[in-house]
Amino acid sequence: MNPSGGWLRLQPKIEAIRHRLAALESDPSRKNSFVPYGVERDTPYVTVDDERYLMMSGYSYLGLSGDQRVVDAAKAAVEQYGTGAHGVRALAGSLPLHEELEAEVARFNGRPAGAVFGSGYAANVGTIGALCGPGDTVLIDKYDHASIVDGCKLSGATVTRFRHNDPEHLDLRLRNASPDGLRLVIVDSVYSMDGDIAPLPELRKVCDDHDALLMVDEAHALGVIGATGRGIEEHFGSDDLVDIKLGTLSKAIPSMGGWVVGPPQLIQHLRYNARPFLFSAALAPAQAGAALEALRILDKEPERVTHIQRQSARLRGILNEAGMRTLSSETAVIPLIAGSDESAYDYATACRRAGVIGLPVVSPAVPNTLARLRIAITARHSEADIDVAAEAFLTAARECRLIPA
Ligand SMILES: Cc1ncc(COP(=O)(O)O)c(C=O)c1O
Repeated sequence: MNPSGGWLRLQPKIEAIRHRLAALESDPSRKNSFVPYGVERDTPYVTVDDERYLMMSGYSYLGLSGDQRVVDAAKAAVEQYGTGAHGVRALAGSLPLHEELEAEVARFNGRPAGAVFGSGYAANVGTIGALCGPGDTVLIDKYDHASIVDGCKLSGATVTRFRHNDPEHLDLRLRNASPDGLRLVIVDSVYSMDGDIAPLPELRKVCDDHDALLMVDEAHALGVIGATGRGIEEHFGSDDLVDIKLGTLSKAIPSMGGWVVGPPQLIQHLRYNARPFLFSAALAPAQAGAALEALRILDKEPERVTHIQRQSARLRGILNEAGMRTLSSETAVIPLIAGSDESAYDYATACRRAGVIGLPVVSPAVPNTLARLRIAITARHSEADIDVAAEAFLTAARECRLIPA
């Protein structure tokens, strides 16, 4: 059968992907995406092709993924409610467990109300779309997450980007923004590629000067920054610098889902206007049960957060002292700059030979000259694990001539 015209038009796109994959597959060491890892439930080690490696690129920041209490909570939710929520929240999909989780997310974040979505991506897209439309202006940091970018596109609002972590540039952008409509500024609390933190007090001031709302994405901040893991406001010693806080339940919280907290009127508005909330199924019971238990554990065990912060600073210190570049990272996300896509792949391969997995991030995700391994420290990494990782990262860096031999 001859392919139809529709398939023929798709062909160039498929060819382009085939081309890129063929280039990667010609060198097996460069195939880093979609590699299935055998996970050890109680350790930061994984297995690939029967070899055991120390995983340094995972996001289970609090190390709770295999925690028995979280596993039991997920099981109990399945026993009580079954395996699915069977629909959208507005049409028979709402469980008491969802409301309990929303209350806990709001309480933990020091806000009166909260809503949970199917993912962090859906939370961003849904919230931006429910708040903004044509005639409104959204101002986003150049390095904001893709879900924020996509939410802006779908909203139909005017979108303006400002330079990364640059309040002065935001100020300029706001001066030039339309005087009409809503102004919404959105930043990541912690940037997932560089591990740096948004300058929140300065951004708040600029927003106040221009009657703009400030929304933050706490995906890499909850459970990671602030003395008790409450994120960017706690990091800056305040509790009211942000208008709308949002995050994921799939990183420090070892489940799936997204959350938004803020004033009750805002949350009510989202329940009736955020399209992923209205038109996509509610969280499955196991996900909601696991997330709720993990949040409660975080509340009771802030020492997990302290451990992440101490070990991240220690590893960064060791690497910097040996000459590794880590940009302006000050959190659990640490970029190890390799300097080009090629070097990043080579460095990842050398790290693997040294027993450690650090996954490469290359262009176009980051500029070619800043291609890197992006690593993340979790509460599951013991001090000894961090020493092993440091040794491996430095041995591999010497081998790849990223630092002097
Ligand atoms: C900053 C940021 N926001 C949102 C998301 C999306 O979260 P989820 O994976 O729950 O959809 C991510 C995930 O990588 C993220 O890094």
